[in-house]
Amino acid sequence: MSPPQEKCLPRKSLPPGIAAAGIWLICACSSTYASQSALQPGGPLAKAIADLFWGMVAIGGIILLIVLAMLAVALLRARNKAEPKPLTFTQSRNLVFVSGVVIPALILTVFVISSAAVNREIVAPMPEHALTIQVTGHQWWWEVDYLDTEGNHVAKTANEIRIPVGKPVRIALEASDVIHSFWIPQLNGKTDMVPGKRNLTWVKADRPGSYRGQCTEFCGKQHAKMAFTVDAVPEEEFDAWLQRQAQPAREPATENESKGRQVFLRSSCAMCHAIRGTSALASVAPDLTHIGSRKTLAAGTLDNMPGTLSSWILSPQSFKPGSHMPATVLAGEDLGNLVEYLLSLE
Ligand code: CUA
Repeated sequence: MSPPQEKCLPRKSLPPGIAAAGIWLICACSSTYASQSALQPGGPLAKAIADLFWGMVAIGGIILLIVLAMLAVALLRARNKAEPKPLTFTQSRNLVFVSGVVIPALILTVFVISSAAVNREIVAPMPEHALTIQVTGHQWWWEVDYLDTEGNHVAKTANEIRIPVGKPVRIALEASDVIHSFWIPQLNGKTDMVPGKRNLTWVKADRPGSYRGQCTEFCGKQHAKMAFTVDAVPEEEFDAWLQRQAQPAREPATENESKGRQVFLRSSCAMCHAIRGTSALASVAPDLTHIGSRKTLAAGTLDNMPGTLSSWILSPQSFKPGSHMPATVLAGEDLGNLVEYLLSLE
């Protein structure tokens, strides 16, 4: 028996213009794009930058239209074989001087002044009593420390930053190994993180939401997988969250969780990670005291779920080649208990 034949229909393709518009619309509507667009500002700093961008696009667009109109006039004249009246030497000189020197100089001056004004707003000093979050860049993850108004350490987490909505938050940036750069396109501009130097920036979110950030300085093999999120939440919710994060890890509630904690403490995990409230206090790798409350693993690389966490523990190099986390060899039951324990740490 011969296989069923597919009906051959004449192929109709979309005109290229409509296809391009369709792709643009799909991209513009996709939430992945919406969450990391500097043109959808969520706070005053990003808004100042976006306004500057649109101002420059508008002026550039007007110049483009004028040039195109002049070109069209010249082409029409050539087509109609109309002989233009020749300019005198003084007229030609003035035309070149005004359109080639005076007008560009004026436009560039406007651009420079407006850029400087936006920059001034971005680097303006923060009030001393603002909440400070210290973010340290590592290959390839973010260490996040919450400091109180006196600069004392309150809580530590990794890769996920939480801020109170409507409040300016000071961000102190450091790097432990190579240069990284901190950028939340919807909230602020880029600030470099340089080893041995402490750079300051600040953010304010005008509306609640989740804003994606990304390392924006090439820092090695997994630079692309060095993402983070900033969740802006109402202040009461933020205070309650910070209080929970400041607590040591909860005690195991089941036998499996208890066994999981033993696995953690006797395996290589405890040599790099800390779980506050246990004997594991290393600070080479992300603090796992409240790992169960985080949405992602490995700086936004994987969703934080039992299956992905198991796979990550067994073979980090499959997901992030070059990651400093080595593979951990664990028997099935030990791995299951370890994952159960870690995800219970909310
Ligand atoms: Cu860190 Cu790129």
